[in-house]
Amino acid sequence: MNRKQIIEFGDFQTPNNLAKGICNLLLSEGINPKSIIEPTCGRGSFLVNSIRTFSNKAEYLGIEINNNYLKIVKEKINSFGDSKVTLINADFFQLDWKKILSSKPEPILIIGNPPWVTNSRLGSLKSDNLPEKNNFNNYNGMEALTGKSNFDISEWMIIHLLDWIQNRNAILAMLCKTSVARKVLRHIWINNFQISESDIYIIDSQLNFKVSVDACLLVCKTGKPSKVNKCNVYDNLTNNKQIAVIGIQKSDLLADISKYKKWSHLSGKEYYKWRSGVKHDSSKIMEFKLNDNNFINGLGEICDIEKEYLYPLLKSSDIANGKVEKPRKWVLITQKTIGDETSIIKHLAPKTWDYLLEHSDYLNNRKSSIYKGKARFSIFGIGDYSFSKWKVAISSLYKKIHFSVIPPYQNKPCMLDDTCNMIPCKTEEEANLIADLLNSEPAKKFFGSFIFWDSKRPITISILKKIDLMKLAKELGKENKLKKHLSDKTQSDQIQLEIFR
Ligand SMILES: C[S@@+](CC[C@H](N)C(=O)[O-])C[C@H]1O[C@@H](n2cnc3c(N)ncnc32)[C@H](O)[C@@H]1O
Repeated sequence: MNRKQIIEFGDFQTPNNLAKGICNLLLSEGINPKSIIEPTCGRGSFLVNSIRTFSNKAEYLGIEINNNYLKIVKEKINSFGDSKVTLINADFFQLDWKKILSSKPEPILIIGNPPWVTNSRLGSLKSDNLPEKNNFNNYNGMEALTGKSNFDISEWMIIHLLDWIQNRNAILAMLCKTSVARKVLRHIWINNFQISESDIYIIDSQLNFKVSVDACLLVCKTGKPSKVNKCNVYDNLTNNKQIAVIGIQKSDLLADISKYKKWSHLSGKEYYKWRSGVKHDSSKIMEFKLNDNNFINGLGEICDIEKEYLYPLLKSSDIANGKVEKPRKWVLITQKTIGDETSIIKHLAPKTWDYLLEHSDYLNNRKSSIYKGKARFSIFGIGDYSFSKWKVAISSLYKKIHFSVIPPYQNKPCMLDDTCNMIPCKTEEEANLIADLLNSEPAKKFFGSFIFWDSKRPITISILKKIDLMKLAKELGKENKLKKHLSDKTQSDQIQLEIFR
């Protein structure tokens, strides 16, 4: 297998010891299947260890797209004499799974390790190792544009396998990324799948697969769902140490049900709208360092441009490291709001316009479809809020809850990059109050009940906007101070509205 094929087929073969440990765990949980299926069996470590662990009267079925792997499996199982093993060389997506499963005696165990690759990665490799229909989460056009509808192949496979077995006596036990396991849980809970129990066992993917991805074994048993959907999370396969219980609140996953129960009274209205920073997808051209009064772009060029469209820029790392007083970078902000015409720059700042024209290849070649059909040199995530002098911000990427007050710099509002989330504020006093509220222990505990720290972007706007700042202020005895700012805010929003009418 070359590197491209390994990626395309998500090919990370499970080491024997891990497969053995998983089969032993299932046996110790009283699982005694009559049929065992490994849907993408590779070199068959689960198949072989299942035959060793479970009854040799059970039926075994292994399916794999790579025939060379099946030859290896055949050799391995030859030594097992008369066990009933069927191997099929096929593409998972082309099989009639309902028919295959209908003939299998119960209890059925579906075990294995489906491919570790995303649809967008396959798209970039021009691979068709994909299902034909893939909007199984019913995402809309905007969610498709922003990448929310991207999915892991294993997510698609596990959700569909669970769908096909939900009215059978069956167990699914599969290795996957922890992020995939959570998406699966959310899907089955929201769609009321007949799954009675689920557990997650964290595994050491560095040790087992030499990759640094948070991964786990997801185990789901079919049956009548319990009143409260929950999934126990264990530290590892063997010591039974429970580290959290995942749940769901409306359509949002909870990282810790018990924390949520204690702090749920803080959820409610979004008094201030959370925003993310600006997106331009071309840091080489749009971002500058200032050296001896020279603006130097990411190509190392000294750029003679007006200051008109330049703003101080803070990135996630600056915010996470508390370096917010003196921004290291500047950013070219070509619009005041999304959809603004940009050609005006030619008249107001001709050197900036020439600079953009000279580097238009970089900007025209930005891959994201959010720029398609928009004015030349458009940016994204921009609006009145971006220009508010004071802000309260947090990095979405970092693994700590800390909100910083962002002051203006050299009399200009600081911009944040698109990995940061923020609330725009009118005054320093307002920003200090909001940051104090959000950095309080009750707020941290509340957010902690939703945050999955191993996510790529743990601190999302959908989590931040859940907290009701008024309820939080009441809890901390700062209700009157917040009311004052909110009434100022309402008045100025009212004035804005009248101007627009
Ligand atoms: C993560 S590996 C795991 C292999 C094996 N289950 C194990 O645990 O060692 C994923 C396997 O899926 C196979 N695969 C990828 N796409 C497939 C498809 N469309 N149909 C069947 N097998 C596929 C790959 O060839 C690879 O062997």
